Amino acid sequence: MRRPIIAGNWKMNLLPGQAVALVDDLWGMISGQGSVEVVVCPPFMDIPAVSEMIGSGKMDIGLAAQNMHWEESGAFTGEVSPTMLLKFGVTHVIIGHSERRQFFGETDQGVNRKVRSALEHGLVPIMCVGETLKQREAGDTENVIVNQVKCGLFEADSARANGMVIAYEPLWAIGTGKAATALDAEEVISLVRRTVSETLNAETADRIRIQYGGSVNPDNISEFMSQQDIDGALVGGASLKAEDFAKIVRFS
Ligand code: 13P
Repeated sequence: MRRPIIAGNWKMNLLPGQAVALVDDLWGMISGQGSVEVVVCPPFMDIPAVSEMIGSGKMDIGLAAQNMHWEESGAFTGEVSPTMLLKFGVTHVIIGHSERRQFFGETDQGVNRKVRSALEHGLVPIMCVGETLKQREAGDTENVIVNQVKCGLFEADSARANGMVIAYEPLWAIGTGKAATALDAEEVISLVRRTVSETLNAETADRIRIQYGGSVNPDNISEFMSQQDIDGALVGGASLKAEDFAKIVRFS
């Protein structure tokens, strides 16, 4: 049995005070539920304050960064390393979000370096894959996804990769209010699982958790979660409102 994981990607929103208030409100609504692993992904600058809040409130909430560099230190202006994240109690890290691939030139090779580095440092990577509308309409979804998964996991340590997360986020569903149907998401996510099996092994494919992301909200979450291969959600906009995110966490 895979434990569902629901993560809120706050993207470049919220100042530290607002971030702390959101976590406080959220915890008030979800404490006591233990069936779902809950993760928040604040911007770097909010991480110290949110980390302190989670620690001092003994909140069972994971803390993710939205990106990281693969090296521990060095001449990489503007970057943040895995060891720096660990110092602040970060547990998870989003890698290869489509916004980073689209706007900041991230490549499959860079994603792979980051995934392997996160695994080596004991951080849980949430590796994002997804096709554009153009690729979907051209019938390329399968190729694009298989390629992203294979490249992202290339030479990853399979024992460590058991604990990682993959998020399938079709670009056309992100921030558009037009979520994929649960069946379409399941079709791609089961393909992701088969590809993990081919790239690493069957055991890892069985254990790895795969999320759907893209316009997830309190009304559509249960349909996604009822699919066999969908183990959670990566939520953007709706994770900025404590009430909506709490409803998503308490989907059942
Ligand atoms: P929305 O939920 O706002 O569509 O964003 C999805 C996303 O990109 C999460 O990483």
